[in-house]
This record gives sequence, C-alpha cells and structure tokens, in this order.
Amino acid sequence: MASTKFKRMLNRELTHLSETSRSGNQVSEYISRTFLDQQAEVELPRPPTENDDPRPMSQITGLRGPRPASLPTAAVPRFGVQTDQEGQLAKELEDTNKWGLDVFKVAELSGNRPLTAVIFSVLQERDLLRTFQIPADTLLTYLLTLEAHYHADLSYHNSLHAADVVQSAHVMLSTPALEAVFTDLEVLATIFACAIHDVDHPGVSNQFLINTHSELALMYNDMSVLENHHLAVGFKLLQAENCDIFRNLSAKQRLSLRRMVIDMVLATDMSKHMSLLADLKTMVETKKVTSLGVLLLDNYSDRIQVLQSLVHCADLSNPAKPLPLYRQWTERIMAEFFRQGDRERESGLDVSPMCDKHTASVEKSQVGFIDYIAHPLWETWADLVHPDAQELLDTLEDNREWYRSRIPRSPTHIVGPDRFQFELTLQEEEEEEEDSDEGQSSALNRSSESPST
Ligand code: CMP
Ligand code: MG
Ligand code: ZN
Repeated sequence: MASTKFKRMLNRELTHLSETSRSGNQVSEYISRTFLDQQAEVELPRPPTENDDPRPMSQITGLRGPRPASLPTAAVPRFGVQTDQEGQLAKELEDTNKWGLDVFKVAELSGNRPLTAVIFSVLQERDLLRTFQIPADTLLTYLLTLEAHYHADLSYHNSLHAADVVQSAHVMLSTPALEAVFTDLEVLATIFACAIHDVDHPGVSNQFLINTHSELALMYNDMSVLENHHLAVGFKLLQAENCDIFRNLSAKQRLSLRRMVIDMVLATDMSKHMSLLADLKTMVETKKVTSLGVLLLDNYSDRIQVLQSLVHCADLSNPAKPLPLYRQWTERIMAEFFRQGDRERESGLDVSPMCDKHTASVEKSQVGFIDYIAHPLWETWADLVHPDAQELLDTLEDNREWYRSRIPRSPTHIVGPDRFQFELTLQEEEEEEEDSDEGQSSALNRSSESPST
C-alpha cells in the first residue's frame, strides 16, 4: 500500500530529524503523533471523582440553543451581520474569490462574525440560496447559531479559522481544472462541511481528550473524536428553531448531502492524512481529463476523494497564504498548543510535542510542518489541477524559506532540516510490493538546494 510506504518513509525521516536536536525531536514527535495514526502510551484509568458528570451519554454535549435572528427575510443585511461598516465590509469581501482574502479584516468589520459574513458572501456569489431555496432569515439564524458554537476564546480553532477554510475551499472549487466538474449539491455540501468542520472545538487534540478520559472520547470510542463531534453538532443545530437551511431540498438530496459532509469532515482527522495523501497520489498518476481539459470523475469514490482532499488542503492552507496572513495563523496555533501544554503540565500529564512553551521552536515547527505535511500535500494537489496551483506552491516555498532563515543558530549543532519530497510513482510502488523490504529510500529525495544553517 502506498500509504504504508509513505508512513515508513516519513518515519525514517522523522527518526533522522529527532536526532538533530531537542526541538527537532519535538517537531518529529508532533508530526508522527498527529499525522501518522499512532497512539501514545495509554494512561492508567483513574477512579471516579465527585466532579464527574453522572449523565448518561444520551445527548450531544456543547449545545446552547439557537441564536434568534428575528429578522424578516427582507431585513436580512447583505452579509448577514449587523455592522455600521457595511461599505468597508463589502469592499473587503470583493476579494471573496481570491486566495488571500484578509479574513482577519472581515472579522473586524463584521462585529466578529467572519463565518456568517464569508458564507453569505460565498453562497450569494454562487447563487446557491436561489438554487436550493434557502430562506435568508433561516440561513442567518443557522449561521449565527453555528458561529456561536465556535469558541471565541480560542486563538486558533474559532470561527475565523472556519471562515478561512470555507473561503479557501470556495476558491479551490473555482480552479479551472475543476470547472463544471461538481454539481451544485456537491458544492453546497463542501461549503457546509467546511463551515462545521471544527465547531465546538475545545482547543485540545484528540489525543488529549483520549488521555484525559473525556466524555467526548468515551462517546466516540476514541475514534476521530473531535471530527465526529463537529459533525454531530453541525447537524444537530439544523434542528433548532428556524435553522433548517436544507428544508427545501428533496429527501434524496438531503441524504446525499449528509453522506458527503460526513465523509469530508471525517477526513479532516489528521491521523488520516497519510492515507488521504497516498490515495491522492495514486489518483494523480491515473488521472483522466475530458476533451475540455477538466478532470473526469465518473464515480462517487473518485468525486468524494477529490472533495475530501480539497477540504483537507483548505484546512492546511495557512502556510500557503500570503506571509502576513500565515504569520498570524502561526501565532494563533502556537498559542493554542501552548495553552494545551500548560493544562497538561498543571495536570501532571506529559506535555504534548510542540505544546511546551519553554522548549518549542516556532520557526522549526513551521519548517517541519511544511516539509513533512503541507508541502507534500499541496504539491500533489498542484499536480492534480496542474498548472492552476503553481503560484500557491511558490508562496508556500517562499514562506518556508522565511521561517527557515529565522531558525536561531545553535552554537552546538547544525539546525534546520533539509527539504525532502515524497516521490513515489506507481511503478515504484509495484516494485516495492514485489521487493517488499528495506533499501527503498531512493524514493525519498533530499534536496540539496537548502543548506543547513
Ligand atoms: P485542525 O484545524 O483541526 O486540522 C488541521 C490541523 O493541522 C490543525 O487542527 C492543526 O492541528 C494542524 N495545523 C494547521 N496549521 C498548522 C500550522 N501552521 N502549524 C502546525 N500545525 C498546524
Ligand atoms: Mg479539525
Ligand atoms: Zn480545521
């Protein structure tokens, strides 16, 4: 299997990285634990305490009831949000179709309702309210409710990140290689999946929830705990008063949309990253295009695979954004990781990799994240939609160089991991299967272009 091979290749690289320095070891641990579907050591169960919630798990946790929009359709503001800066907001949202929309500005101008504003803008741009007869007041009630279920006190997994992922996916769906490939229902499902994909995120990882025996981990048997929860909350909120934005879809359309959304959000679990990437590589190798030069995807499995990859890429798109935006995302994700680390330290747990504010190297973590995760993924996406994503890939590489050049020089050892690329062709994969074992590292090319500092 290509994914087994990828995992083996990455493991080998990470072992090397972990030997370079203490912070290199942290980056390596972060990547292998987050993206390689490996389990950390299990904690011993602790006895129940008085604080434990005695409720049986008959309910989805975290629900807080609908946010009444109480506006008749005609009174719904253009972007769904009450703001005395609507003109400026409209100006900012003129970039809705562009890679690099300043979503932070949108948050400022929308009274911190970036998700509502971005989705209104995207759905209007695509005329999907009319196509699916979505009443504007229902859309507004649902979006305000959904947005309120993102935690505003988190620095990364708040509604700004959801808005960013929605808008990034919207731009990717418009790429020329995918022109007219997806139906309106598939597009609606993708936008909805991005909108709900991290809702009610508690700011800690799946592993943290498992290690602390959380209610959520119990509920979902330690499997894609957060992603299952985001889906449950996103769908449950549709049942709140005047929140069913899909009420005018046929029963068949609703079922189909639900299935696609579940498939897409579950694929945002980072432990699925390697197999998603391996499948995408295989698709690139065998890709078919129509006479018009667009991708030919003639069955559900291929269509959903491209949509899952698209959402996953959008979720990992911050390093491929213009540097001023990317730097803000980095600050935010690191602040959230450090907060988890503080909680772990206070509870006497091992501090997760990249979560220890006393030892983590932000610059190294970004170079490692790009080299081992973001770049291999985006490079494969760029191959799929070639040549549409070239500019984006250049930005990603420039950003990587920006962080690499800022890795503090260590007096004791050489720092800064070399660039490497996964280069696995189907032919190599077949050879690998025949010739099953070690000695295959030639598929993994270290680039000599970036000297260690
Ligand atoms: P989530 O948004 O749930 O899914 C994608 C994950 O990738 C995200 O959580 C983070 O755990 C991780 N991630 C995204 N961007 C970065 C980044 N710039 N640096 C490190 N990890 C990241
Ligand atoms: Mg997530
Ligand atoms: Zn996310």
